[in-house]
Amino acid sequence: MARQPLVVANWKMHKTAAEATDFVERLAVTLLPGSVQIVLCPSFTAIPAVAAALEKRKWQLGAQNCHAAAEGAYTGEVSAPQLKAAGCEYVIVGHSERRRLFGETDADVRAKLEAALAAGLRPIVCVGETAEQRAAGETEAVVTEQVRAAVSGLAPEQVRRLVIAYEPVWAIGTGQTPTAADAQAVSAVIRRLVGELAGPDAAAAVPVLYGGSVNGDNAAAFAAEPDIDGALVGGASLQPLGFSAVVRAFAR
Ligand code: PGA
Repeated sequence: MARQPLVVANWKMHKTAAEATDFVERLAVTLLPGSVQIVLCPSFTAIPAVAAALEKRKWQLGAQNCHAAAEGAYTGEVSAPQLKAAGCEYVIVGHSERRRLFGETDADVRAKLEAALAAGLRPIVCVGETAEQRAAGETEAVVTEQVRAAVSGLAPEQVRRLVIAYEPVWAIGTGQTPTAADAQAVSAVIRRLVGELAGPDAAAAVPVLYGGSVNGDNAAAFAAEPDIDGALVGGASLQPLGFSAVVRAFAR
């Protein structure tokens, strides 16, 4: 059950191509090669620059979104095959900002996930409850529904290519987090459900990340939990020092 730790930087709508390149150079100074798989997810406009900057490194490139169609008349959209051709290995799908601000449904997320898999990308599927849902005791039900919508009916070998990020909506960008024990409990629910839907090998293989106000101070507590394999990092990923502190917390 040796899953490699995975720490993903989600820069959201930050950094120009030049700023993203500068980040890579500075991160390389603060981080020695180690056991953690690092994925950087810049804006579309910075993807070519980061791809070039990553050529001599083991870190990988991801995008923050893709369209469900491989090509077509979708002005302003970017497809999964375009991302793959630009050097991406990963793509985030179903981030709560996409669900909340851009109206993405579970069905949209599923369609994007399938497009990503078809293009040879690894989808990072985000799930998580709102503050209201948590207060109503619905966390497990909400996360179960979202994971089921993403995973059910996929072949086990497809499920093995997924990454699932548990990101409580109320923890994103707020400085608030669940306890590591709470995040572990939800991560265990996710892994058990993946097992029910796709079998024990898939459940053992799928990395489950925690996301939501992760930083260098709290990452070690999440890293100590058996079902939390890494982190999806927003705000703290914008500075090389802050991001490398999270990476170090997940290093074995
Ligand atoms: P945050 O964002 O680390 O700034 O809370 C995490 C995310 O949205 O993926």
